[in-house]
Amino acid sequence: MVLKYFSHSAFQITTNDKKVILIDPFLDGNPTSPVKSDHVNADYIILTHGHGDHIGDAFKIAKRCNPLFIAVNELANYCISHGFRAHNMHIGGAFNFDFGRVKFTIAHHGSMTPDNYYAGEPSGVLITIEGKTIYHTGDTGLFYDMKLIGEMNKIDYMLLPIGDNFTMGIDDAVRAVELASPSVAIPIHYNTFPMITADPMEFKDKLQKLNRNCVVMNFGSEISI
Ligand code: NI
Ligand code: MN
Repeated sequence: MVLKYFSHSAFQITTNDKKVILIDPFLDGNPTSPVKSDHVNADYIILTHGHGDHIGDAFKIAKRCNPLFIAVNELANYCISHGFRAHNMHIGGAFNFDFGRVKFTIAHHGSMTPDNYYAGEPSGVLITIEGKTIYHTGDTGLFYDMKLIGEMNKIDYMLLPIGDNFTMGIDDAVRAVELASPSVAIPIHYNTFPMITADPMEFKDKLQKLNRNCVVMNFGSEISI
C-alpha cells in the first residue's frame, strides 16, 4: 500500500488493489497541505473525531465520491444526517472491511462538530491492511493504555501528534512511542498553525537516542509500506 501524508492529521492510504482510504481529510482550510480537496478521491473516509481540522473537507469530497464513512456512532450518525453513507462503530470495536480491519481506540480529547453537534467520544484508530498495522492516535494527550495497545497489536506505523497545546507535545509523544513500541513513528499535527509549532527533527532526535525509528514525512509526500 501507499501512505500519503497531506499534513496535520490528514492521510491517504491506497491499497494494492487501488482502494483509497482517507483519514481526517483537512485540506482546503489547511495552510500546510499542498493538495486541495478537488484533487482527492475516496472510497472510505475514516474520521477520528468531529473537530473542524479533522472533518475538514470530508463532506465536500463525499458529495463527489460517495465514500463510506467510518467513525464512532455519534459522528457516523452526523455523516448520515448529512446524507452520506456510514458504518457506525465505537471504541474497542473492530470490523473487517473489504480493504482491511479497523479498530477504534480511546483518545483523550474533545469531539464536537464545527456546527456544535456532539460527536461522541474522540478516538484513535488501528488500521490493518495487507498485514501491516497503522495506529493513527487521533488528537490525544498521553495515556498509559498505549502500552496495552502496543502489547496487543504489532504496530508497524504509529502516527501521533507532537504539536502540543491541543495534544501531546514532543516529550509526551516520545513517551507514547516508548509505550506503544511501533516499528516506525511518524509525527503529525504540528506546524499547521502558530499555536502548534514544533520541530519534528527534535522529536526524531529524541527517539533516535532511544533507538526508536522515526520517519518525518514532508507535507504532500508518500511512502510505500
Ligand atoms: Ni481535535
Ligand atoms: Mn486537531
